[in-house]
Amino acid sequence: MVEKLVKDVDPSLKLIRECGYSDNIVLEVKRGKTLYILKMAYAGCPWGIKHLRNEVEILGLAHDVEGITHLVQQYDDVSWCASPMLKEYYHGEVANAKIRNPRAQKRLRRTVRDLHALGIANIDVAWKNVVVAPSGDDAKIVDLGIGTVYNRAWGYVPYSTFRKMKAIDLRRLYRLFG
Ligand SMILES: Nc1ncnc2c1ncn2[C@@H]1O[C@H](COP(=O)(O)OP(=O)(O)OP(=O)(O)O)[C@@H](O)[C@H]1O
Ligand SMILES: [Mg+2]
Repeated sequence: MVEKLVKDVDPSLKLIRECGYSDNIVLEVKRGKTLYILKMAYAGCPWGIKHLRNEVEILGLAHDVEGITHLVQQYDDVSWCASPMLKEYYHGEVANAKIRNPRAQKRLRRTVRDLHALGIANIDVAWKNVVVAPSGDDAKIVDLGIGTVYNRAWGYVPYSTFRKMKAIDLRRLYRLFG
């Protein structure tokens, strides 16, 4: 069933595996020799659809940030799935142990600061959203779905709230470091 879903979204993709347990559908897929993540929401789940749309908006704003997995392609809805998107795959393991490597820590600090500088906070810097390379010396944030965009012109959130969100992001990041 999941294989068919992948083919319905994009016939050039092949299912490799389902990733963890999630409110959304998150699949590791392959096109040729390259791995990607295919992520989509359940059509009847408004929270999931909001997560996906929000993530697409943030990935658009953050296309130059290095320590995240970027948007590759978006698709039309298919059968019971909404807002499918293809993202870069990052090889490694979720951060279920403390991240002690100084290079990985530096990369993640830089990534969070780069996102903050673009007006993106509330990044949900949790272990399951951070993938650490097998060498341990690099890491990426793989899920920006609940992020919040602070935009001076439109005022999505008041600046005081945005500042608090930034402080929470850094606190959560340092908690991952132990
Ligand atoms: N770009 C990626 N590269 C490698 N692995 C990834 C990538 N994106 C997601 N994963 C894997 O899939 C899991 C779920 O992905 P993601 O966090 O995007 O989904 P989610 O619906 O927000 O799940 P959750 O609610 O558990 O955070 C991650 O914990 C990670 O193991
Ligand atoms: Mg997540």
